[in-house]
Amino acid sequence: MSDPGGVSTIREATVADVDVILDQRRKMFAELGRPADETEREAMIGRARPFFEAGLGDGSYRGWFAEVDGRVVAGGGLVIARFPPGPFDPIPHRAWVFNIYTEPAFRRQGLARQIVETAIAWSQERGFGSLSLHASDYGRPLYELLGFKPTNEMRLMLADP
Ligand SMILES: CC(C)(COP(=O)(O)OP(=O)(O)OC[C@H]1O[C@@H](n2cnc3c(N)ncnc32)[C@H](O)[C@@H]1OP(=O)(O)O)[C@@H](O)C(=O)NCCC(=O)NCCS
Repeated sequence: MSDPGGVSTIREATVADVDVILDQRRKMFAELGRPADETEREAMIGRARPFFEAGLGDGSYRGWFAEVDGRVVAGGGLVIARFPPGPFDPIPHRAWVFNIYTEPAFRRQGLARQIVETAIAWSQERGFGSLSLHASDYGRPLYELLGFKPTNEMRLMLADP
């Protein structure tokens, strides 16, 4: 791991951070090229705004940022949904890791790892039995390092991607 070159701190996101979260989400999907068309991508980001505004307010979205010298350079969060308890999940909620993004100049300094570890610790303290996510090719090595394993999830697409 290289030196971040400044003091890094992790802080929790508030409702005032919606634009920062959407900007990181925009950059994440731009890097992944999904969807390929920029106008469609921007429309997708716009459709997500009410979700994050409401979620940060009612706790169904939890976000964390890594700041270096007071500037946000990485972030990520958890989508939390009511879900029936099951074999792995003793409480009536499940959580999905979301929006993990580090600015290119700050990569391989352990910032995304700190954010995901913060989300894991937060979830463990509240009795969650598992965390799920969809991994990009960039993110997969980080998640494997932290112990995430592939599952038996399947998906039927109901609209053109
Ligand atoms: C994936 C991403 C968030 C990683 O952010 P990061 O801050 O650079 O990750 P970290 O420095 O915390 O990585 C911790 C460890 O994960 C692994 N890792 C992270 N990025 C890796 C890469 N590109 N290749 C191989 N291993 C990688 C390494 O083991 C790394 O430890 P090391 O640097 O000591 O070897 C970043 O590359 C990114 O924003 N990518 C574009 C958006 C994206 O794909 N997000 C994930 C969506 S699921």
